[in-house]
Amino acid sequence: MSAALLNGKELAAKKRETMKKEVSKLIEAGIKPGLAVILVGDNQASKTYVRSKQKACEQIGIHSVLTTMPEDTTEEVLLAEIDRLNEDPDIDGILVQLPLPSQISERAVIERIAPEKDVDGFHPVNIGRMMTKDKTFLPCTPFGIVEMLKEADIQMAGKHVVVVGRSNIVGKPVGQLLLNEDATVTYCHSRTDDIANFTKQADILIVAVGRAKMIKASDVKEGAVVVDVGMNREDGKLCGDVDFDEVREVASHITPVPGGVGPMTITMLLENTIQSAKERA
Ligand code: GUN
Repeated sequence: MSAALLNGKELAAKKRETMKKEVSKLIEAGIKPGLAVILVGDNQASKTYVRSKQKACEQIGIHSVLTTMPEDTTEEVLLAEIDRLNEDPDIDGILVQLPLPSQISERAVIERIAPEKDVDGFHPVNIGRMMTKDKTFLPCTPFGIVEMLKEADIQMAGKHVVVVGRSNIVGKPVGQLLLNEDATVTYCHSRTDDIANFTKQADILIVAVGRAKMIKASDVKEGAVVVDVGMNREDGKLCGDVDFDEVREVASHITPVPGGVGPMTITMLLENTIQSAKERA
């Protein structure tokens, strides 16, 4: 039997329609939500992501401003730009596209963004709030994954979630969000002995490692829900960390790549920016 698709593209479009109306109402009330994006250097993938984020803002009426800085920008100059945006009353969200050139500390940059404008949800204060389940900006990809599971009425409470990957952006926070939904969470990573031993026990398997098609049908329990966060290129074609054609025959639900998790990430960034605008003093 073939798995049902968890269609992120469709859910993202639906959510963006609702957001468009919300933004119109805010504008009528005199608040135009504003997102500032900072792009440092010439990373091609980052340029593409940033363009998509700006286009998405435009589509739903969020004002977006882009600051581009050269590859040799110093940390001091970048921090000064963040200070300026922290003080700008028309800006509700600040996003510094990662990765940054090696002379700049990502930690210093993330910590400089005012937590109330950190729409990426990367600031340690916001990570702490996520852990204690207090109101905060949730990191966009994990937030999008939980929204997709809820939309498909997939039960999380009591289920065994196995997360493969422990990045600060996806792996670690998605496990935490699922724990907040009362799931039992196991993390696997590059030092885990016999990853398949764990993935085969997952009711919900979330894979975010960046290795094309590493999860095969034999790694997945019959009827599992499989969420693929991977975005790899193989022979010029986009593919995930899950071998989709094999695994869809075993899973009950699966996210395609493209059209699964990807469109949800930007959608949740828009959501966080609108939330921030609503909370303007
Ligand atoms: N680089 C890759 N993903 C992200 C993201 O979600 N936010 C930022 N700021 N940079 C990224």
